[in-house]
Amino acid sequence: MVQVTPFLLVLLLALGAHGLSVKKKCSLPGRWVNDLGSNMTITTVNGNGVFVGSYHTAVTATSNEIQLSPLQGSLQKSPNQKSQPTFGFTVNWSFSDSITVFTGQCFVDEYGKEVLRTMWLLRSHVENIKNDWKATRVGTNVFTRLQSQE
Ligand code: BTN
Repeated sequence: MVQVTPFLLVLLLALGAHGLSVKKKCSLPGRWVNDLGSNMTITTVNGNGVFVGSYHTAVTATSNEIQLSPLQGSLQKSPNQKSQPTFGFTVNWSFSDSITVFTGQCFVDEYGKEVLRTMWLLRSHVENIKNDWKATRVGTNVFTRLQSQE
């Protein structure tokens, strides 16, 4: 009995140290909401990092009625990115003639919450090359996982 106690102590310390060293992974599949109130669902990520999903934007640069739109993307799979990978995706808007490309990184923040920090380029269609200068908007979005997903 006298020898069991130090053994348990060492075991508990080892387990505790292991728990501290396990880094939480940020993964893309699931439902996300951004700072504009837009919703995004990433359904599948295949073995090559290729993923698909859908995007419901809360805002539009057009006067068209907003519709759910498809997205296609790619997740960087290199070993040194495994816990907080970079990614990119394209949304092909179903209700306008525009395209948005997003690029970003999937982080685990200081509270253990997953967050997607992104930048985007929204390309609108213009009638002629003289209007090209005003065809591209740029911005950032921060996505957090929808609460019911945690
Ligand atoms: C359009 O207006 O032609 C399509 C919708 C664009 C919505 C943009 S994409 C970047 C930004 N982030 C969002 O969630 N929505 C806007």
